[in-house]
Amino acid sequence: MKVVAFNGSARKDGNTAILIRHVLDVFESERIETELIQLSGEQIRGCMACGTCRKVKNMECKIVNDNVNLYIKKMYEADGIILGSPTYFSMMTSEMKALIDRAGFVARSNNDLFKRKVGAAVVAVRRAGGIPTFDAINHFFLINQMIIPGSSYWNVGIGLNKGDVEKDAEGIKTMEDLGKNMAWLLKKINT
Ligand SMILES: Cc1cc2nc3c(=O)[nH]c(=O)nc-3n(C[C@H](O)[C@H](O)[C@H](O)COP(=O)(O)O)c2cc1C
Repeated sequence: MKVVAFNGSARKDGNTAILIRHVLDVFESERIETELIQLSGEQIRGCMACGTCRKVKNMECKIVNDNVNLYIKKMYEADGIILGSPTYFSMMTSEMKALIDRAGFVARSNNDLFKRKVGAAVVAVRRAGGIPTFDAINHFFLINQMIIPGSSYWNVGIGLNKGDVEKDAEGIKTMEDLGKNMAWLLKKINT
């Protein structure tokens, strides 16, 4: 089994990456393979609404000068998908939104590529706006007919500067509990 995780932060190895790694550590201890992809520094544009994916149905986006088609393939091949983002003005980052819009349209144009995979959102926030971000990512999973495990709180960790989330003990526990619940679910539905 494999889980692929995406960090939508503009800041590599920051709070979102730390939170995601706490979830992935649980998978590794449960012998579930993991991969973390950080979008920091990548130029990913949004959906052009060209409709090509709906016509061609080749599991790809027409825009080929970035990594989105590779990421769609990685999501398709994985059993679980984690989408992590810091909160930017009460929402996910532009990079994560671009990935969601394009992967989502391609998936829905190709018989729901992500149907019944397990999905989880991971959010970093300084103060407020984490819940709208968490909700928006979960909307992506839900419309793709994916299954979302819960945790002991909503999957949000608090911090401003790189590393601050490590001081948010409840946030870290939330990520560990998420990892345990997601690993349990993955094993149940893949036996
Ligand atoms: C452009 C921008 C907008 C932000 N907007 C918010 C916000 O709306 N609410 C908030 O609590 N923090 C906000 N922050 C703070 C980040 O969410 C916070 O520092 C987070 O821990 C960054 O995660 P990272 O280290 O993974 O990049 C913003 C940061 C940036 C750069």
